Amino acid sequence: MSTLRTTPEEITAAVAASYSEAPPRLRELMTALVRHLHAFAIEVGLTQEEWREAIAVLTATGEITDERRQEFILWSDALGLSMLVDAIEHDFPDGATESTVLGPFFVPSSPLREYGANIAEQAAGDPAWVYGRVLSIEGAPIPGAELDVWQNGDNRLYAVQDPRAPETHLRGRFETRADGTYAFLAVRPVPYTIPSDGPVGRMIAASGRHPWRPAHIHVIARAPGYRTLATHVFDEMSDYLDSDAVFAVKRSLLRTFVARKADDPDTPAGVDGDWYSVENDIVLVPGEPIEPADPGRTA
Ligand code: BEZ
Ligand code: FE
Repeated sequence: MSTLRTTPEEITAAVAASYSEAPPRLRELMTALVRHLHAFAIEVGLTQEEWREAIAVLTATGEITDERRQEFILWSDALGLSMLVDAIEHDFPDGATESTVLGPFFVPSSPLREYGANIAEQAAGDPAWVYGRVLSIEGAPIPGAELDVWQNGDNRLYAVQDPRAPETHLRGRFETRADGTYAFLAVRPVPYTIPSDGPVGRMIAASGRHPWRPAHIHVIARAPGYRTLATHVFDEMSDYLDSDAVFAVKRSLLRTFVARKADDPDTPAGVDGDWYSVENDIVLVPGEPIEPADPGRTA
């Protein structure tokens, strides 16, 4: 047998060594990427045909991505990588509200609305009064904190996905009052599917997975001197809490949507029938108010 034969180990070592002059962090990232990528190919015995197919999938991912749709982020979400990176970066102390995935439907510059205002600009489901306080980890109220909220309606769509919805439908920014309290009128969210007409959807279908997310309302909380938090209010009665397509459910974020009657003395102005209320305090951690990365949208 020839001793001149090149081994897979030699190929990996040569590629890793090619980064020896790179800046330290880039060197660390690239050599680890090469080692893990090569180990993956060796572990599964990757064939030429499978690799050609993978490149076709990456090409299709690029082709379907534009300023409204970000299929690469959807891969990151569907493979659990978004949640893993979030967990690495947000090692919050006990008692702080946990972060979760930002998702692709966040639209910056939502209208600033009054305490208790309705974010539904047209019929979108059962009214839900969302209220609570924004607090420090010591329990002190944080006045002037901003909550940027967005959600889907009972047609399962976010306004950004729905050509018939007003642009600012089902989203808004709210400020906490002097005692740290906030409130807004939303609708009880419903489960919906992540976009499944592209390569990620084809992977999910081919794998026997489903594309559903459990019902939730998105919240970004911002306050000077505190770390900006992207999180969800999950409906604890929703389907798919145990099988979220993007692995973003955290037990601490489940909330009760309490059924209320139309004749309840606390019925919010503008609500005619039965409604729900949801209490949701948010606890922030001191630090830099860094915006969550907005990767673009997946409409
Ligand atoms: C969302 O919750 O809006 C979302 C998150 C990840 C992928 C798709 C949608
Ligand atoms: Fe969502």
